[in-house]
Amino acid sequence: MKRIGIVTSGGDAPGMNACIRAATHIAFKNGMEMFGIERGFNGLIRGEVRQLDRFCIENIIHLGGTILGTSRSPEFYSKEGRAKAIKTLERYQMEGLILIGGDGTFKGGTVLSEECGVAVVGLPGTIDNDVYGTDYTIGFDTAVNCALQAIDRIRDTALSHERLFFVEVMGHHTGFIALHSGIAGGAVCMIIPEVSVSTEELCKELSDLYGKGKRSAIVVVAEGDQPGDAFRIAKEVSACAGFESRVCVLGHIQRGGAPTAKDRLLSSRLGVAAVIALKEGKRGIMVGEIGGKIVETPMQDTWEKHKKLDVELQELAKLLAD
Ligand code: F6P
Repeated sequence: MKRIGIVTSGGDAPGMNACIRAATHIAFKNGMEMFGIERGFNGLIRGEVRQLDRFCIENIIHLGGTILGTSRSPEFYSKEGRAKAIKTLERYQMEGLILIGGDGTFKGGTVLSEECGVAVVGLPGTIDNDVYGTDYTIGFDTAVNCALQAIDRIRDTALSHERLFFVEVMGHHTGFIALHSGIAGGAVCMIIPEVSVSTEELCKELSDLYGKGKRSAIVVVAEGDQPGDAFRIAKEVSACAGFESRVCVLGHIQRGGAPTAKDRLLSSRLGVAAVIALKEGKRGIMVGEIGGKIVETPMQDTWEKHKKLDVELQELAKLLAD
């Protein structure tokens, strides 16, 4: 394999640049040329490609976002859109393509891999951590730490005013960010899409805690499929139990910033592993990390199967909700 391409797709995630850097370094060491596709799948469709040299990847390991840019590309999900993308791959004579993204990206990548002769290898990059086939995705740890910092700050003012706070975090349809940041931030409760909690149950839980002498509390709410829903929950809790509360929606702040050391390490390991996989003739897979080991998963499984929340962590959250 002499020429490979790399694309970042879907929501950007801190660590994507560290991953581009690692993959490009190792490609050069194996005598390969590396082409960066700009603006995600949209750039692949429009032929927005630039060759990466060693200077392109200098001083990017610490940068959030993605130097290549990204997009959500509905056009890529049409056969016509993919046909244009395949033309770009052919024009640049790419034999391999590394996709860094989430389950939506891999859905498109699976079809692309079946339709063209190019070997496609995926790497999990999303703050949501909702990709089957890896314990953690690139960007998750940074997002959790960002949410945690915010929770710590909110705790100061919550305590001073003796207030209840609802902090809404991202996570798409999953509660990974909420569960991890909530436990680490000492929240009394995490409202996540995987577990349904009624307003009455939540009010009872909070009333019990306040009955024991609690004067302020933080509830972490996962955005689920309705960002901003924390406002509704706060209103209902206030109407039901009379708690005065405030809401803080963290939003896209969680997607930016310098990647943590953990994310940089994961990105570097996975970037190298993707190039090695291509060199070994692998295709149609995603490379992830499970139990500290590099693991390959058929790309189709990554979006067809669902990664479950850690049951032990859910138990821990309940145990410490006091
Ligand atoms: O997938 C990452 C993510 O940040 C989700 O947590 C969130 O629901 C979504 O992207 C927001 O997408 P957009 O930036 O397109 O509004």
